[in-house]
Parts: sequence; structure tokens; C-alpha cells
Amino acid sequence: MNTKTFIIGILIPFTFIGSLISCKHESVKEKFDSIPSIQSIQYSPNNIEILTGTSFSSVIPTTSPNQTYAYNINVIPNNDNIKINPEGQITINNVITEGNYVIDVIVSNSAGSRTFENIYTVKVSSTPTPPSALNYPIDSIGVSLGTNSISSTPSISGTFPFTYSIVSDPVNPEISISNSGEISSTSSLTLGTYYIDVTVTNSAGSKTFENAYIITSTNLISFDSNILPLIESKCGSCHTGGSRTNYTVYNNSKNNINSILNRIQRVENSPGFMPASGSKLSDNDIAKFQKWLDDGLLK
Ligand code: HEC
Repeated sequence: MNTKTFIIGILIPFTFIGSLISCKHESVKEKFDSIPSIQSIQYSPNNIEILTGTSFSSVIPTTSPNQTYAYNINVIPNNDNIKINPEGQITINNVITEGNYVIDVIVSNSAGSRTFENIYTVKVSSTPTPPSALNYPIDSIGVSLGTNSISSTPSISGTFPFTYSIVSDPVNPEISISNSGEISSTSSLTLGTYYIDVTVTNSAGSKTFENAYIITSTNLISFDSNILPLIESKCGSCHTGGSRTNYTVYNNSKNNINSILNRIQRVENSPGFMPASGSKLSDNDIAKFQKWLDDGLLK
């Protein structure tokens, strides 16, 4: 074989492989443009403490953007009794030994994959720890008379599982607590402010958290109870995150209330009338926007 054929012999396969790689590259890029890769993942709560001999499944995580992903985990120190299922739930087998485990979750789709370090922690111990540090991310709510409410899920430390009970002051049968600690009130709750003590119990004991949550039932118009549902049903698509002002954001509605009132009271389909190319809000709905302003633009 002379030098020339040798060089050509090497170059041809290389160019071939090179073009294959660049081809593949383009198709990956194309997918990148159409399928967004994962930005964030959240487990709420993001930790668990269990007794040896107990199995457990975490909550299903919320992801942004909300898409279908494949999940893998990296457990530190390595342990085969902690796994992740196709929905992203972290599962623990009851034969797991005592210890503290930190979990990295690797989330992938065709746009790529990303590792979220220390996203979940697991503590397995042979003696239970009593409940402590009950916390509602938002610990009070104003509810309009005639509407119901539900709190977010509280975070709690101590050994899983927990049971919850409440005493409200004043006592009211319309307020209750779920198995995971969410406090709700029905639409029959009467006017007043209710201070709620939450008692959390596990195998190590019970603890009462005084005034852990406060519900105020008012007949004032508030953004969350009265205005937001109107914005979502009547001003949707245009003002709920598209190119126009997003009025599902409290401050945006609050700061533009005069302009909103002006636009919704114009003659239907006249210039500037809102909802654009829709029909006029009912007198009752328009009155709600006006009363929201009169009542002080409550959140
Ligand atoms: C079909 C789409 C559409 C719907 C539905 C709609 N809007 Fe608009 N809105 C627009 C567009 C487009 C503009 C910008 C043009 C203008 O100012 O008239 C606008 C402007 C406004 C403005 C002026 C300030 C700003 O944000 O630009 C207000 C206030 C407003 N809309 C309120 C509302 C309210 C309240 C509703 C529901 C009751 C609503 N709109 C429903 C499309 C819409």
C-alpha cells in the first residue's frame, strides 16, 4: 500500500464518521428547540424520617416545565433499597438499614438530562423522634363568606407517619384537618377569626402547635377568593401569562384596578372594551371588581 492510498483509506472512513456525528448533532439540536429540558424539580416535603422496618413512598414531584421525564437516582451512601419510580416518587424498601441518605435525582428527556443534587434526604433510625417544627408556608388565610378554603401541606419534622387533629378557637365544625395536615374550611363557615391549634402525633408522642394556622372569614372581597377566579374565567388566554399584562398576579391587578374598571365598564365591543372580542361581564361581576377596590384591594 503506498502512502497516497493509505491516507485516502484513512480519510474516507473519517469523513464518513464525521458526517454521521454532525448529522446526529443536528437532530439533537432540533429536538432541543421543540422539547424544553427540565428546569426545576420539587419534592414537597423534601425529606423523610422513618423507623427501621418501615417502607415509604415520597410525594410525586412537581417539575417545571411539566413534561414527561425519565428519572434516575444516585443515593449517597449507595443503597439499593432506595429507588425511584417512573413518576419520580422515591421509594424505600423496609429492609433498609439505619442511616442518613442524601439523594440526587437525574431527570432526563430527549432534550437532555440534568442532575439535581441533595434534592431529597432520608433518615432511617431505630428509635422514633417526636413531632417538631410544624410549619405552614402560608399560615393564615382570609376567606370570603360563602367560599371554602384549603391550606397548603405543612412541613413537619420527626418520624413518619403522623396523625393530625385540631382545636379551633372559637370552635367551629366547618374547619377540619386532612391526614397530611391540610386545614380546610367549608363554605358554611360563619364570619369570624379562627385560631387553630394543631396536634401532631407519631409513635414517639404528641405535640400541640398553638395558633399554627388562622382563618379569617370576612364578607370583604379578596383577590384570591373573588377576583382571581374571575380573571381566570373571563380574561383567560390573553392576561394569564401570554403577551399581555398577567392579571393573575395580585400586584398587576391591584396596580391596574382603575384601568380594569374603566375597560370592563365600556360599551361592549367599543374601542378598548374588555374582555376584548368577548361579551360584557355581568353587573354582579363588575360590582365585585368595584367592591374589591372599596374594600381595600385585599390579597
Ligand atoms: C382576547 C384577548 C383578551 C381578553 C379575553 C382580555 N383582554 Fe385585556 N387586553 C387585550 C389586548 C390585546 C390589550 C392591549 C390593547 C388595549 O389596550 O386595548 C388589552 C389591554 C387590557 C388593559 C389595558 C392595560 C393592559 O394590561 O394592557 C386592561 C386593563 C385589560 N386589558 C383588562 C382586561 C380584563 C379585566 C379582562 C377580562 C375581564 C380582559 N382584559 C380580557 C386582550 C384581551
